[in-house]
Amino acid sequence: MSSNNIDSALIENRQFPPASEFTDRARIKQADFDRLHQQASDDYVGFWAEQARSMLDWQTPFNDVLDDSKAPHFKWFADGTLNVSYNCLDRHLASKADKTAIIFEGEKGDTRHITYQQLTDEVSQFANALKAKGIEKGDRVVIYMPMIPEAVVAMQACARIGAIHSVVFGGFSAESLRDRINDASAKMLITADGGNRGGKIVELKSACDKAMAGGCPSIEHVIVCQRTQHDIPMQEGRDTWWHDAIKGQSSECAPVWVESEHPLFLLYTSGSTGKPKGIQHASGGYLLGAVMTNLWVFDLQDNDIFWCTADVGWITGHTYVAYGPLAAGGTLLMYEGAPTVPDAGRFWRICETHRVSIFYTAPTAIRALMKLGDDLPNNYDLSSIRLLGTVGEPINPEAWMWYHKVIGREHCPIVDTWWQTETGANMIAPLPGVIATKPGSCTIPLPGIAADVVDENGNSITEANKGGYLVITKPFPSMLRTIWGDDQRYVETYWPKFDGKYYLAGDSARRDADGYFWIMGRIDDVLNVSGHRLGTMEVESALVAHERVAEAAVVGRPDDIKGEAIFAYVVLRGTRPPDGIDEELTKELRNWVGEQIGPIAKPDNIRYADNLPKTRSGKIMRRLLRNIACGEDITSDTSTLENEDILLQLQGKS
Ligand code: WTA
Repeated sequence: MSSNNIDSALIENRQFPPASEFTDRARIKQADFDRLHQQASDDYVGFWAEQARSMLDWQTPFNDVLDDSKAPHFKWFADGTLNVSYNCLDRHLASKADKTAIIFEGEKGDTRHITYQQLTDEVSQFANALKAKGIEKGDRVVIYMPMIPEAVVAMQACARIGAIHSVVFGGFSAESLRDRINDASAKMLITADGGNRGGKIVELKSACDKAMAGGCPSIEHVIVCQRTQHDIPMQEGRDTWWHDAIKGQSSECAPVWVESEHPLFLLYTSGSTGKPKGIQHASGGYLLGAVMTNLWVFDLQDNDIFWCTADVGWITGHTYVAYGPLAAGGTLLMYEGAPTVPDAGRFWRICETHRVSIFYTAPTAIRALMKLGDDLPNNYDLSSIRLLGTVGEPINPEAWMWYHKVIGREHCPIVDTWWQTETGANMIAPLPGVIATKPGSCTIPLPGIAADVVDENGNSITEANKGGYLVITKPFPSMLRTIWGDDQRYVETYWPKFDGKYYLAGDSARRDADGYFWIMGRIDDVLNVSGHRLGTMEVESALVAHERVAEAAVVGRPDDIKGEAIFAYVVLRGTRPPDGIDEELTKELRNWVGEQIGPIAKPDNIRYADNLPKTRSGKIMRRLLRNIACGEDITSDTSTLENEDILLQLQGKS
């Protein structure tokens, strides 16, 4: 663990208790909170059983709550059966058929309101179309779509028939898409002709064609939703338009009841090696986490308009767009495009127009909008907003205060939610009607979540503000079940220490004197760029795949907006450019990485050197590279360096 992560302690003493106007109508009040915590500590398994029984509809009720006999492989509610799409749709129809489930706004301003009845019909019809193309329970379906309601329809349709979806973020390149399709051996790919973003068309279908040309032998069919209506080639026999696929299909489709442990989806995320991990989630446990946190952390109520700005390509877009709000019977808002089109007031205009009451976004977006000043948000009526949320990385107190004052108008609680792709749902976050917040802290674990900060030996750190490993000490329903196709990696990555007793989150954290958690950063080689996880190795592999690159090392450096920016050190085949500058090549390499992974992975800085600093055992001295990237003094021992001169090159001084 890098000592930077573990030692830096920023002490923030401001506290913001919830206003009584919020507390009075909150779902969870102090007495509920006390009861839930008591129950979870007295009878942990009983606590989860009760939540699962009260929040989900089961086709076959479960008796087995937790099976931990094969730890770290846990099963929850294993003898119960249910259907996730039934829980998100059908079960609301008796009372909410005409309630709006999704409010959609396209980047060009087109809007749609979709009721629960309409959404159920669309999902069922599309599920029938999937069946007609031979998709069955357990088959993998990759979804590569823009932020349009059809993306949610496709996910829900898979869930309805027990197919396992794997959504690939539309910003990922053809190469990344192909790798994910092949790792999952997906039978079908669902995409769109394109999406609107930043005033341009995102060419999704052409990326699919490129991915397929590179070899995706498992794909039998491609379904293409028409969104942008620009000309794209369709391949006879392989590609079908969405509107043709649903033609003549019934809008009734009986849900396929699946075992609670049946995989609901895979979602690929970055780890510390070059290969992304297919995080596998189970149906019952995941949905429980999603619905419970929507109700408790977001206090989602019947008349709320809930807007989580995340793309469905990320876990946040799964849990707080595609599943959680629907399972809770809420109304969610989906926006297709960029926050800056036609101007940077877009988010606030959307909040005003649709009377958004709960707004959930990432610190990187908050910082970017903050930089543009208060006038933009002040021009809009944000009085409908009653609760704010943040996720993805630690939020700096300055951005928190701006969010609180300028967006929350000083009366909205802010829920800073710590969680991961692997945990499926919020883990450490305030219950907004109960917990006083502190700028920059995700506060305390939710009832039923056993989080701790431990030292090297797995002992709980009780000393205030002393950093350590963030771990979860008891299994919980919404946790990942394994890594698709690589169970060994699951065991080694998440349970490597402390005799496999604790789930190792991969973050360092400290607890203050009030027991509040403060996340300090990753302990592995994972970067957090604009709230998105990227493995340094992934970027390095992409760089060395370029014909001119011999070696590359990638580290993060702090960035005002993105949280972390990517700094790449590159050793070229052949000679180093004079003075280490070659702007043409830098541009080419940046674009190359964009093509290999996606634009978010483009290095912000590239520095050329004749060599990389290595230890005697050949390990790259990343700490040293990090020091240099941050413009800090070099604190590592450089005596083992073969060639001290490269230090000057690495620093850009020669
Ligand atoms: C970081 C996103 C501080 C953390 C839901 C974690 C956070 C990683 C927070 C997971 C937060 C997420 N405060 N750090 N509120 N939320 N992180 O899988 O490092 O994309 O391990 O899931 O983001 O990123 P992932």
